[in-house]
Amino acid sequence: MENKRVRRDDLPKHIGIIMDGNGRWAKKRGLPRKYGHREGAKAFRKIVEYCDKIGLQYLTVYAFSTENWKRPKDEVDAIMNLLEEYMDEAFAHQNDDTAVRTRFIGDMGALSIVLQEKIKRIEQIGQGRTGLTVNVALNYGGRNELVHAVQAIAELLEQGKTAPEQIDEQMLCDHLYTAGQPDPDLIIRPSGEERLSNFLIWQAAYSEFVFMDVLWPDFKPEHLEKAIEIFHQRHRRFGGI
Ligand code: IPE
Ligand code: IPE
Ligand code: MG
Repeated sequence: MENKRVRRDDLPKHIGIIMDGNGRWAKKRGLPRKYGHREGAKAFRKIVEYCDKIGLQYLTVYAFSTENWKRPKDEVDAIMNLLEEYMDEAFAHQNDDTAVRTRFIGDMGALSIVLQEKIKRIEQIGQGRTGLTVNVALNYGGRNELVHAVQAIAELLEQGKTAPEQIDEQMLCDHLYTAGQPDPDLIIRPSGEERLSNFLIWQAAYSEFVFMDVLWPDFKPEHLEKAIEIFHQRHRRFGGI
């Protein structure tokens, strides 16, 4: 690895990023918020490229929360259009030599049919790829995810396929959108805010948090490298000593 500071063998397995600060980035420049989202989408592409290069296994990015529908319609539309552009680009490059697999986590039912179809196709393209898995959290909310899991388990109970005493943490994990994936080791939030805002609330039980004073559109691979460096200085105990 030509990169001296980030080595493949001691990388976190799973990194989560709350891509925050697009609106403020635009406001600082006197531009409408949608321009911040457009720059944010560019930063996202570069970070995916970088994560792939360093050999990360899982990256989960928070793109749109279940609460973000409260925003003006033109801003929501602009974000959805950017996501669609990203998907169209992925189709156009589907035969490129890449091992990156894109998945979407969240409540897809509320999205337009066109987006839902594109999401299905993107996920199909990624099947069988063994490199970096990118989870795009879209119409995602941790509380919504837990409700969804509980409903699925309740159905199993109703069908007699499980019993109350069989319900355990593993069963709950198996019904989350991230089923089968390791919990995030590191969660990064740029923009200066220091909260989860409903991101991976179950999975973050033992994550390390790194909050950074940079707006998402300005977030560069160097910031990620710095966050990984900070992560390496932490002492994770998981309740032990
Ligand atoms: C994050 O940036 C993108 C989404 C929530 C979709 P924001 O749009 O929240 O930017 P700020 O926090 O207003 O600066
Ligand atoms: C969290 O950011 C959601 C995304 C980055 C997609 P918000 O900007 O929506 O969070 P709050 O409102 O500041 O908590
Ligand atoms: Mg924000």
